[in-house]
Amino acid sequence: MSGLTRCLGSSIGRKGLMGITGILLSLFLIAHLIGNLLVFAGQDAVNHYAHALKANAALLWFMRGGLFLVFATHVYLALSLTAENRRARPVKYVQEHTQVASLASRTMVLTGLLVLAYLIFHLLHLTKGVIGHEAWSSKLPDGSQDVYTMVVLGFKSPILSGVYLVSMALLYLHLSHGLKSFWQSLGWNHPVYRPLFEKIGTGLAAILVIGFASIPLTILLGVIQLPGGGN
Ligand code: HEM
Repeated sequence: MSGLTRCLGSSIGRKGLMGITGILLSLFLIAHLIGNLLVFAGQDAVNHYAHALKANAALLWFMRGGLFLVFATHVYLALSLTAENRRARPVKYVQEHTQVASLASRTMVLTGLLVLAYLIFHLLHLTKGVIGHEAWSSKLPDGSQDVYTMVVLGFKSPILSGVYLVSMALLYLHLSHGLKSFWQSLGWNHPVYRPLFEKIGTGLAAILVIGFASIPLTILLGVIQLPGGGN
């Protein structure tokens, strides 16, 4: 039996893999946030970054494939572990448990599925341009996509920004519990360091979500403006 098969065969192995895939997704979010925050540095900065990312198509598709695989594994493990827990757990225990569990921990599957729905919306919006096509079609004088104008024009819509802000609140619920319990999933349940690890997880979730939410918020408030200061 290979290591991976053995790992997937035990629920401890599946939990550990779930934690690892969660951390890999969080690393993507950190990198994605750093790139996105370049909108605060202006049109040239964010466009250079976006064009550099797309310059090497083979590398881009390799990264997208890896991300998809990690994401799909995370969702599959979440659903299969939840189904397994429901089958194994007596009803009485469920009632006792929900009294002490936080809102975030009780709603992990729901918030995870809502974040998945957000992600589909986000890809249809900023990657495919199916939603907000006019902003997505913004071009620079050389004919390449003007990612800065696409983002600023798009988030000027209160409805669209509202969808993002609500989604970021859901992402916070999901990430704060995920990053807090990740250490336990890997079996690092140290009585002294655990509270510290939990604080680091919650803090990281807050930084990520505040960082992402700052983009639609500052655009709505007119702090970030279209090139030339137009509305
Ligand atoms: C306000 C916050 C956000 C902004 C402004 C933003 C911006 C962008 C932009 C501009 C792209 C375009 C890529 C392209 O040109 O094809 C993109 C792609 C993407 N975003 Fe976001 N994003 C935000 C939040 C998020 C969050 C919270 C997640 C995950 C939960 C996420 C996941 C992704 C993924 C998976 C892609 C596809 C990457 C690819 O095409 O390879 N984004 N985002």
